[in-house]
Amino acid sequence: MQIENAPAIDVIQRYDSEETLFYCDPPYPHSSRGDIHAYGYEMTDSDHQKLAEVLNTLKGKVALSGYRCELLDKLYKGWNCIESPSKQCLSVKQPRTEILWTNYDIPEDQCQNQLTSSMPLFDALTKT
Ligand SMILES: C[S@@+](CC[C@H](N)C(=O)[O-])C[C@H]1O[C@@H](n2cnc3c(N)ncnc32)[C@H](O)[C@@H]1O
Repeated sequence: MQIENAPAIDVIQRYDSEETLFYCDPPYPHSSRGDIHAYGYEMTDSDHQKLAEVLNTLKGKVALSGYRCELLDKLYKGWNCIESPSKQCLSVKQPRTEILWTNYDIPEDQCQNQLTSSMPLFDALTKT
């Protein structure tokens, strides 16, 4: 294992290849959560846009997790996605749905809400 301390985009571009699988877990867009100061480094909508521009040009496989929201749906339009069961979120007092977007094909029976596993997002990562 190797730990890198650098901006995500630099690391992603350094290691991109057809043999690479990137699991990206960026800070949730602010529109999808109550606390907008949760992480040491937050990402603005513009940062999400820049990350998506890079992820959309990679040779490697990408799986990106986040809450369903207008911004991520727009940036990863056309990608495959798997929904995790919705959970009630205390900070926004609304149900939130965690999604795994992938730029590679996933088995049809794993798309959207058809999963029965309690850890569907991880199942999808390990079956690539
Ligand atoms: C949702 S958290 C990831 C949590 C991680 N998967 C874990 O289980 O510990 C998002 C993380 O991305 C970091 N981050 C924000 N902007 C970044 C950037 N440009 N490059 C690298 N990391 C960044 C945040 O500080 C935060 O720790």
